[in-house]
Amino acid sequence: HRSVSVRGAALLPTGTDRHGDPPPDTLQPLPVQTEPFASFGRALLITLPRAARPGQRLALQIDYEAGEGPGVCWLAPEQTAGKQKPFMYTQGQAVLNRSFFPCFDTPSVKCTYSATVKVPEGFVAVMSATSWEKEEDNTFVFRMSQPIPSYLIALAVGDIVAADVGPRSRVWAEPCLIEAAKKEYDGVIEEFLAVGEKLFGPYVWGRYDILFMPPSFPFGGMENPCLTFVTPCLLAGDRSLADVIIHEISHSWFGNLVTNASWGEFWLNEGFTMYAQRRISTEVYGLAYTCLEAATGRALLRQHMDNTGEDHPLNKLRVVIEPGLSLPLGIDPEDTYNETPYEKGFCFVSYLAHLVGDQSKFDAFLQAYVNRFKFQSITADDALGFFLEYFPELKEKGVDSIPGFEFSRWLDTPGWPPFLPDLSPGDALMKPAEELAELWAADGLNMEAIEAVDITAWRTYQLVYFLDQVLQKSPLPQGKVERLSKVYPKISRSQNAELRLRWCQIILKNDLEAEYSKVKDFLHSQGKQKYTLPLYRAMWAGSEPARALAMETFSATAPQLHVNVRNYIKKILGLE
Ligand code: BES
Ligand code: ZN
Repeated sequence: HRSVSVRGAALLPTGTDRHGDPPPDTLQPLPVQTEPFASFGRALLITLPRAARPGQRLALQIDYEAGEGPGVCWLAPEQTAGKQKPFMYTQGQAVLNRSFFPCFDTPSVKCTYSATVKVPEGFVAVMSATSWEKEEDNTFVFRMSQPIPSYLIALAVGDIVAADVGPRSRVWAEPCLIEAAKKEYDGVIEEFLAVGEKLFGPYVWGRYDILFMPPSFPFGGMENPCLTFVTPCLLAGDRSLADVIIHEISHSWFGNLVTNASWGEFWLNEGFTMYAQRRISTEVYGLAYTCLEAATGRALLRQHMDNTGEDHPLNKLRVVIEPGLSLPLGIDPEDTYNETPYEKGFCFVSYLAHLVGDQSKFDAFLQAYVNRFKFQSITADDALGFFLEYFPELKEKGVDSIPGFEFSRWLDTPGWPPFLPDLSPGDALMKPAEELAELWAADGLNMEAIEAVDITAWRTYQLVYFLDQVLQKSPLPQGKVERLSKVYPKISRSQNAELRLRWCQIILKNDLEAEYSKVKDFLHSQGKQKYTLPLYRAMWAGSEPARALAMETFSATAPQLHVNVRNYIKKILGLE
């Protein structure tokens, strides 16, 4: 991304280096070159005034201007919740921070950082840092005292205020959202953190705060250390979407402490985090509910593989990222954000737990794994090597090469996971939803049987699961979806984003033109990638009016979408 404009650079060795060299007498400006580097930006090449010895310490000072690149997002007042003041934020993962500041933009390198940020009057700056101080003159000083990879450095500036929600946690949001933000999470974050610490070891980051982002934020959550960024869609009013927070908290151990050394092994971050998230969820909400949530995840993996084809190279846990190589051989690091590293990764970690056979032994392994690799970046081979070393009896048995379940097959063969964890403890919650979906999909309409099922007490994820079943069985016979919409206003009029997504998918799959406005409204109200892309795919695969809806909605919302999301939609709509 050709956006870091380097205005001039200078190199100055620090006072004395380890070998006791005297400080240089002059500060020498040096030629700086930028080289094209595939589609992932440009390398900054700096020539040293004289050759450096191995181990010699150097300090580089680089003056640069940034701001136009994909890592830095500038929002106009209309794109915020309050619509009064502009907002800016950065999103580094996967390889966007190179347009925010010059860096070794690979997750294999970790460093501490500090930053001094001056903002206009009436704005507040926050960063992913262990300390935060406000000085005079609208200046904020940040320091991250633990080594982190470049993608976790994040900044946001806006008209934001904070409210405490726990002993080491506060929520940040625009003033008009702060009450809702506080109400959603007051008193619950600490329990998630405490359970995480019990399972995985000390929480090393000091604070755990949450920043509610403007509606176009492309993710459910982003685990920036000390300060998770989240979509405002989480403000459902009933804490029903707390799994996203538990997920981001889980990254405090898996991802932020133990980091994938390459984006080609992104499942090490996300697969372990999904497993950790569901361990915490099991402790807090019980196994039945957690299995239900995991079943909705499995449905997402099914949809993703159906979309891409099981054999797509993205559907391996270990993918090849090589600058200059494009599909089918090489993969853009941004494209690794799909369901495979999450849900197939979850299945693989569950399979490892299944091999161990005892939950508390596997929990102890996870804690040992964090302890062994904390503050490091590792490969899948490191992780699996440690697993076999930790369980020598399994190594002896050759569990890494059981036919059909070889570790190498898990990593390097695309397709549906060879092992699925047992989700039957969730049956009491899932079966009624499955049966109700059957009734709606059957020929004829047995209203008596349908009305006998009382869904008023169903949890959000039960409704989500029900809607996923209905979607799978769609298109339903003529008139059924209109009826369903009337019978369950709780679903069809819901403001809960997870329900809205499914309802919109059902509208499109059944081509219910009368309800198109709901799709449009949803896409105008938020810009999360995982909500937005499936709806564009569905519109584009639909009727002429559905395609027209896609075009119309895209031209109206394109300016407010994150650049990655915008580009993916363009691909879907054949605009590129
Ligand atoms: N780190 C990811 C978000 C991400 C991935 C940003 C890849 C950029 C590139 C974050 O932890 C995440 O996985 N968020 C999920 C939450 C969900 C799995 C509960 C999301 O946004 O959907
Ligand atoms: Zn994640």
